[in-house]
Amino acid sequence: MSKILVTGGAGYIGSHTVVELQNEGFEVIIVDNLSNSKIEVLNGIEKITGVRPAFENIDCLDYMNLDRMFETRGNIDGIIHFAAYKAVGESVEKPLMYYRNNLVSLINLLQLMPIHKIKNIVFSSSCTVYGQPDQLPVTENAPIKPALSPYGNTKQICEEIIRDTAHAAPETYQAILLRYFNPIGAHPTALIGELPNGVPNNLLPFVAQTAIGIRPELKVFGNDYNTPDGSCIRDYINVVDLARAHVVALKRMMNNKMTENIETFNLGTGRGLSVLEIINDFERVNDVKVPYQIVGRREGDIEKVWADATLANEVLGWQAKETIDDTLGSAWAWEKHLAETEPKSV
Ligand code: NAD
Ligand code: WQD
Repeated sequence: MSKILVTGGAGYIGSHTVVELQNEGFEVIIVDNLSNSKIEVLNGIEKITGVRPAFENIDCLDYMNLDRMFETRGNIDGIIHFAAYKAVGESVEKPLMYYRNNLVSLINLLQLMPIHKIKNIVFSSSCTVYGQPDQLPVTENAPIKPALSPYGNTKQICEEIIRDTAHAAPETYQAILLRYFNPIGAHPTALIGELPNGVPNNLLPFVAQTAIGIRPELKVFGNDYNTPDGSCIRDYINVVDLARAHVVALKRMMNNKMTENIETFNLGTGRGLSVLEIINDFERVNDVKVPYQIVGRREGDIEKVWADATLANEVLGWQAKETIDDTLGSAWAWEKHLAETEPKSV
């Protein structure tokens, strides 16, 4: 049985990926310092798959502890590196916290990989590296635009660090960079999902919290964009679809199918939806009201972006499958699950 280390595996995308890995017969070790997640997520994973993943409460900044973990666990076949801070606004206020956490965690792993004879790493990148693309849908060859936040910059720099490292030692490393568009939704069982941390910045958690009454109303940031209904357009991708892509990427590496030792893929649906479309669909699918008000634009927002996912379709054989209705249904089911199990977080 292949053994995979999942850093940040207790988090939103990580936990869904652990489930898909276990469903495909991988043995999983999670490394997470629980800075943005809770240990209870392991119960959810275990309920879904019947297997409790191994868990190590380690900070990826802690080189010595990571080293010890690799030594004790032995024979790890690949790493999926999710662990990072991800709040755009916070990164503007605390840039060094973001640069340290996101860059040093990656550097530690890359340094430890050859020592422990691990060749394969999958990295969580983001469509944020494209900024506002000149052409839509955006392909992997689109130019990387100057980052709009320190968070976005960490993703660009991490990509470069991996590229330089893999280039310098092609026999030692294989890397797949996955550029996620906007992950939303939760596992269909509603046993795992995205955990709220204060007031959500992202659209879907805010929509769901408004529908359930935690927030009085959603603010729609702008209706004067150059889009059909004036609100911004994004490529919202189901988190389970996204998780499955990681399993496919790992298998590609482990089966020596890569054509170069570093490959990059967009992970999106190829379909752009506006903020107002998301609100209307959420209301229709879940038969709830989402009170909202149009307000001014949010600084730094991209007008419209959606993926050309042809490369992932053709090379990885991966495609987003879940419908937007099912995805918005899963987000609502998860919100209701949270309402039953968590005290209200305001
Ligand atoms: P998340 O915050 O839910 O998960 C990240 C996990 O990493 C958390 O469990 C956190 O406790 C852990 N972590 C953070 N720093 C750590 C450290 N130094 N050592 C050990 N554990 C640490 O975030 P997510 O939404 O699941 O995102 C996962 C990855 O995907 C991140 O790298 C993020 O930047 C990237 N990404 C996310 C999105 C998105 O919209 N959610 C989009 C594109 C890319
Ligand atoms: C989506 C749309 C908002 C909240 C961010 C990061 C990006 C990434 C994903 C990681 C926008 C609108 C939102 C609200 C609103 N992650 N909105 N009212 O901005 O595409 O991307 O998260 O790499 O790096 O920048 O996602 O969910 O914040 O916003 O009108 O209360 O919803 O203006 O058009 P975004 P989002």
